[in-house]
Amino acid sequence: MNKKSKIYIAGHNGMVGSAIWRALEKEDYKNLVGKTSKELDLRNQQAVQEFFSKEKPEVVIDAAARVGGILANNDYPYPFLMENMQIQNNLIDSSHKADVQKFIFLGSSCIYPKLAPQPLKEEYLLTGPLEPTNEWYAIAKITGVKACEAIRKQYGKDFVSLMPTNLYGPFDNFDLKTSHVLPAMIRKFHEALSMLSTLETGVDKFEGSVDHAPVTLLGSGTPMREFLYVEDLAEAVVFALENKFTENLYNVGTGEDLTIRELALLIQKIVGHTGEIIWDSTKPDGTPRKLMDVSKMTSAGWKAKTTLEDGIRKTYQWFLENQGEFKEVKID
Ligand SMILES: NC(=O)c1ccc[n+]([C@@H]2O[C@H](COP(=O)([O-])OP(=O)(O)OC[C@H]3O[C@@H](n4cnc5c(N)ncnc54)[C@H](OP(=O)(O)O)[C@@H]3O)[C@@H](O)[C@H]2O)c1
Repeated sequence: MNKKSKIYIAGHNGMVGSAIWRALEKEDYKNLVGKTSKELDLRNQQAVQEFFSKEKPEVVIDAAARVGGILANNDYPYPFLMENMQIQNNLIDSSHKADVQKFIFLGSSCIYPKLAPQPLKEEYLLTGPLEPTNEWYAIAKITGVKACEAIRKQYGKDFVSLMPTNLYGPFDNFDLKTSHVLPAMIRKFHEALSMLSTLETGVDKFEGSVDHAPVTLLGSGTPMREFLYVEDLAEAVVFALENKFTENLYNVGTGEDLTIRELALLIQKIVGHTGEIIWDSTKPDGTPRKLMDVSKMTSAGWKAKTTLEDGIRKTYQWFLENQGEFKEVKID
């Protein structure tokens, strides 16, 4: 592998793929290839095989997937299961047949059992039932991890699976129907800034000051979650690309978590919202806690460097500069 090696980044337009693209450019990689889903539908096996025959990538990074938050996962089980399997199967099998030597598969922390001990170690995979709200997505991703492991075991190729924790950052999905918790909170708090409270109690008694409209957030606020800035993940991918890994599966996170309520208060402070927060406990909470054990990746030599507060500030700044350009995600 050198700086001129041809690297295909599947999903280069997405939040993760675009961050990886920028990180590789920063490191002076000169031969990057990317295709939008319109140019190459990765669900189409024949089209993917033809693309590999023509382009002959030396390295493949799989950052393409049907991705969504808890509501989308729960409401659209079939595309979350089937499309993700189609995309990754086509990429992994075509890479294997085209003799790609380095393949980086991106999964998610939701592959681990719902009630696995915390923090989550790689060895807990397949030791218990999954969280039902995202089991479709998780099962697809587990088959991807296992396909890479099988190729590593049988053919000795450096196919590696990185399991990032919850990610956030520039180019995140801010569509409230399909977004993850952190970008959804940023959008809700921001939009509430322009709506003054109509509640009698919301009008501040002190002269000249009025609270912002209340913000309703999903669930009870008690689950604990870990968040990784997407540019840190992109650096982890570059690290994985430049180092030969001895095993297939590595967690990527910060190793630190907080409650959803604490996250809400942090985002509220950064956005400058002063109104009430209402917790809609009729909506599902998901797994009670999801914290990665990142010691394997730390021992390999990589560690996240962006604090949550800094990462949210940068993300909010990006949001302010890019309003009106959010993806409104349509699910068939
Ligand atoms: N976001 C997170 O919090 C998070 C956490 C852990 C792991 N991950 C993993 O990171 C990866 C990328 O996630 P993301 O957040 O970057 O998602 P994203 O912003 O929605 O991007 C997904 C990418 O996949 C591409 N894609 C989807 N369906 C496709 C198809 N049929 N054919 C070709 N390309 C297709 C999209 O291409 P177009 O834009 O051209 O349509 C897009 O570039 C996923 O594997 C996900 O599991 C994400």
